[in-house]
Amino acid sequence: MTEEYSATNLPDVKNLKAANYDLVPENERPKVTSIGILTSGGDAPGMNATIRAVVRAASHYGIKVFGITRGYHGLWKGEFDEIDTRQVSETLQRGGTFLMTARSKTFETPEGLVKAAQMCKVFGIGALLVIGGDGSYRGARDLASMGIPVIGLPGTIDNDISSTEYTIGYDTAMNTAMEAIDKLRDTASSHERCSVVEVMGRKAGYIALNVGIATGAEVVLIPEQPVDIDKDVIRTILDCRNMGKRHFIVIVAEGAGDAIEISNIIEASTGIESRPTILGHLQRGGSPSLRDRTMASLMGIHAIECVNSGLLNRLIVFRDGKITNVDIEEGVKMKKTISAEELNRFKLLS
Ligand code: F6P
Repeated sequence: MTEEYSATNLPDVKNLKAANYDLVPENERPKVTSIGILTSGGDAPGMNATIRAVVRAASHYGIKVFGITRGYHGLWKGEFDEIDTRQVSETLQRGGTFLMTARSKTFETPEGLVKAAQMCKVFGIGALLVIGGDGSYRGARDLASMGIPVIGLPGTIDNDISSTEYTIGYDTAMNTAMEAIDKLRDTASSHERCSVVEVMGRKAGYIALNVGIATGAEVVLIPEQPVDIDKDVIRTILDCRNMGKRHFIVIVAEGAGDAIEISNIIEASTGIESRPTILGHLQRGGSPSLRDRTMASLMGIHAIECVNSGLLNRLIVFRDGKITNVDIEEGVKMKKTISAEELNRFKLLS
């Protein structure tokens, strides 16, 4: 249960140092018997499946798991509760995160970070597992640099974590967007309209591009490539109309533009009636897809295999068709983007 700790009974974490466990021989690595797990940043379908896999695999190796509520907020506040294997029953198929999530301003301060590290010591946490996106990973890296061993698991619908080709939640979010756009196409077709759909992704266009391919959209706008409204939107729609098309789907990644503005421009410049739809948080909910359930489960097991072999301060990643891990310092520095070639390939289809 959560307990209140006063400034006088908190452990001293000043002299703790980050370790590179990669360089430590396997038989000299720490034997972890107790871990903490939290979900951080925006929720994503499959986060519960990840927690479940972690708890079940940890139990197999005799490792105790503390669930920490409300992400880093609960961490610095000491909201730790032991979770056993029965408590994760019926969570595999549930969207959201039963541990809840938050974006904590206090944790980002030096005092918040120290408090968080102290709480890990108070509860005897040998490794902290963080399920989240890039921002959450930076928090984990900061804790690692204070001597708290961490493991990051990629959980975000945006698929924008550079170290991994796949993030938990991405597939479900794309399926949700695809189903919504299929419906929008029905009504756009009946009314011979243009439907401008804004999808999530923060500063990344992975959802937009792949949902665009899957729904046969005429136009996809992503933040990774420059957007020329006249050429990429208006000209393309007019060309499509000249080819005989009578309704149009334009997908705009939230980081690339505003659906309402773009819809107004299309209507004013082409005379084609246009309607904007912002899919918003709808994309974050729902039962995880098969892909997200399996990825979440296998990544959760891999995280515990790392913990059990004392391979800490790692990010769990999917690369070249395999679930593996990379050093957290290296992982957070990596970059990935969508190239002009990838976007141009989409244009062959419209
Ligand atoms: O990172 C996931 C995400 O859903 C982004 O696609 C979006 O920009 C952001 O979170 C929305 O955040 P919030 O839930 O704080 O509105």
